[in-house]
Amino acid sequence: MKPIQVGLLGIGTVGGGTFTVLKRNQEEIQRRAGRGIAIAMVAARNVERARALVGNDAVVVDDPFQVVNHPQIEIVVEVIGGTTLAKDLVMQAIANGKHVVTANKALLAEHGNEVFAAAHAKGVMVAFEGAVAVSIPIIKALREGLSGNRIEWVAGIINGTTNFILTEMRDKGLSFDAALAQAQALGYAEADPSFDIEGFDAAHKATILAAIAFGVPVQFKRAHVEGITKLAAADIAYGFQLGYRIKLLGIAKRTAHGIELRVHPTLIPVKRLLANVEGSMNGIMVKSDAAGITMYYGAGAGSEQTASAVIADLVDVTRLHTADAAQRVPHLAFQPDAMSDLPILPMADVVTSYYLRLRVADQTGVLATVTGILADAGISIDAVLQREADEVGGAEANQTDLIILTHDCAEARMDAALARMQALATVLQPIVRIRKEELA
Ligand code: HSE
Repeated sequence: MKPIQVGLLGIGTVGGGTFTVLKRNQEEIQRRAGRGIAIAMVAARNVERARALVGNDAVVVDDPFQVVNHPQIEIVVEVIGGTTLAKDLVMQAIANGKHVVTANKALLAEHGNEVFAAAHAKGVMVAFEGAVAVSIPIIKALREGLSGNRIEWVAGIINGTTNFILTEMRDKGLSFDAALAQAQALGYAEADPSFDIEGFDAAHKATILAAIAFGVPVQFKRAHVEGITKLAAADIAYGFQLGYRIKLLGIAKRTAHGIELRVHPTLIPVKRLLANVEGSMNGIMVKSDAAGITMYYGAGAGSEQTASAVIADLVDVTRLHTADAAQRVPHLAFQPDAMSDLPILPMADVVTSYYLRLRVADQTGVLATVTGILADAGISIDAVLQREADEVGGAEANQTDLIILTHDCAEARMDAALARMQALATVLQPIVRIRKEELA
């Protein structure tokens, strides 16, 4: 049988890796797919460079619309990224009745509902394993492997750049800027690294994970997003003394009232496997009722690592493209007419435990006042650590750091208590609050 004809939009890091791995492993891939998979057309900004890479194997054009409109192309692989041109191309490919494979998390997190609705109406597949934690088949695990379960939560280190930065800061004592520069040099960071360090990349991925875990539409705008730029080295060190590591987690959790969807620095017990996912690696924990806790680990970025996911999608689409559309795995795991309207909860309703650091005057009664405010708010204390005042030294010799770990409470309750503590004359700096998850 003639190989299925693929059009590749973009032949940079991911597109180039896809071309190379598909060629290298073509025999095994064909044995799995039941048919050859051929990249027949490539759209590239730099046509000469693309031709040098693909040789005579594919036609290279500079207009990506030529690819999505070409009658011979059956699957379009979109790896150019972004949410403008990429969206137009994907929508056009779908309108033309072509299947789409994409690694574009921003596109799906922000416009996925529109994309999936169009694909459903047209009876085509949109496959996106490469959009989340590339080398880890987490989309397939959640959507198919765990389909007998009621999923309770998903918590993941799903941005390699920030995990690399946090690891370097802790292990080597590097400054934030030095660690970021290294991450960029190693090619982990997005073109605009603020996407990584401000948490948006992780939030795009968490949004997609929440949708397939709970069968809700993608709702990126409702995600709470906090990055790592305000983290102080002191908190990484205090957290460690208390048995925790700080990771940027993407969390999607089902509660009786709705879904928590949040990305923020999080203390997690050092004994959890997830706390030991280091450097640029990704790790995802899923808690479901029957399987219990499952854990997934692997590279979250990279040329061939992303190609691995893109090609797995190509194999799936090749196997299933002749199947009745109703028999295929639904895009968001649940049938489109069986989606849930569980709301995404506002942060005020999120329940979690906390690490607090207060720089206070080293005076009698300060600790009692602070703990009294927490008690008034009904917030239970788990542990208290007070730094020796003489460690602070110099002009700050009469100050000390008070570190408090709390048990679970609603964020609104904590916000109110923090406002009262911050107003005390003996609290000398803005209070640091970092959320904590036991992940038990
Ligand atoms: N910039 C991303 C990361 C790449 O650091 O994980 C993959 O999405």
